[in-house]
Amino acid sequence: MAYLNDNFLKLKAGYLFPEISRRVKVFCDQNPEAAKRLIRCGIGDVTEPLPPAVIAALHKAVDEMAARETFKGYGPEQGYEWLRSAIGKNDFRDRGIEIADDEIFVSDGSKCDTGNILDILGAKNKIAISDPVYPVYVDTNVMAGHTGEANEAGAYAKLVYLPCKPANNFIPEPPKKHVDVIYLCSPNNPTGAAASREQLEAWVKYALEHKSVILFDAAYEAYITDANLPHSIYEIPGARECAIEFRSCSKNGGFTGVRCAYTVVPKSLNAQTKSGEFKPLHQLWNRRMTTKFNGVSYIVQRAAESLYSPEGNAQVQSLITHYLGNAEVLRKGAKKAGLKVFGGVNAPYIWVRTPKGVTSWQAFDKILNDANVVITPGSGFGSKGEGYFRISAFNSRANAEEVARRLQELKW
Ligand code: MLT
Repeated sequence: MAYLNDNFLKLKAGYLFPEISRRVKVFCDQNPEAAKRLIRCGIGDVTEPLPPAVIAALHKAVDEMAARETFKGYGPEQGYEWLRSAIGKNDFRDRGIEIADDEIFVSDGSKCDTGNILDILGAKNKIAISDPVYPVYVDTNVMAGHTGEANEAGAYAKLVYLPCKPANNFIPEPPKKHVDVIYLCSPNNPTGAAASREQLEAWVKYALEHKSVILFDAAYEAYITDANLPHSIYEIPGARECAIEFRSCSKNGGFTGVRCAYTVVPKSLNAQTKSGEFKPLHQLWNRRMTTKFNGVSYIVQRAAESLYSPEGNAQVQSLITHYLGNAEVLRKGAKKAGLKVFGGVNAPYIWVRTPKGVTSWQAFDKILNDANVVITPGSGFGSKGEGYFRISAFNSRANAEEVARRLQELKW
């Protein structure tokens, strides 16, 4: 008799986005006419084609794979040196941030990395998570057995929830009590809020004092428009000693279907052994990646490298401008509809208060049925997300404008 991982049985319902897809499919099957005008602003998935620089790099790399002289088999598990060096130079050193190429680990996605990182962290850690939050952080901790059972509101025993609300501009403050591991996401998914330098300084100070590790998800950093906001946790002195950063090509280069991301583990970041010794996490992550991962494909790494060329960079900027333009259209539309709106300025997500007395899932149903638009119910991101919904700005301009119009037609 084989035993299953009982921790999976603690998970609430399905993962949020497949659950939304399931409900949308039921709606479309029952309402084929309405299905024809459906606009999806639920999952944050890019809609615009890959930048031309990426397409050229992909074609070239495919041709290289077609000739014996240039064919590539397994690459380095951590990523090809030329990509790690393009990342290190462009994303960090040119911006005055000290990150070495071999502190960068190329992977197939930040969703995977934020889950996989738990392999190198102990089971006894006290874990702090924002509420609302990207559900992957919570669910992977549940799967790893780091939590107790969930209560009625969906909050898991043993996790420390950090409430994010209008009063703190949806950026959590360091807790009064001790925690060992802290998940931060800025610009934030789902609220669209972005942490200021002072807010990140407070977190780094806390982490250094408590010898905690910050898991900093910066997948949306390219959407920062405010020049005063930090793009990387390593802009904060001391962060090399307390933080791991996750970056992605999904939301800037449009790689959600191509898959490429990277994780930075500084060599100066230590965590404690059972016997109280401090050891670098870098060597553990290296060991983990070389054992469980065979690297991102050569073709995809060449595509990622092209994002750092002058033309690739300019094309990424125009994609970001496009999606941020949608965000503005949606923000204005939701405001005109009389809704209270947050985010959408330094992030591709708009976080909207539901009308009084309407729950997140009720808002989801109403917007799906009456406006034929898919949004994401805030409660799917945690109990403090109840009373909100998220609109994704990843869409065509025409669709964003149409959604803004339909929101104004809704009668609540
Ligand atoms: C989201 O909609 O929250 C994101 O698309 C999820 C992701 O990037 O995995």
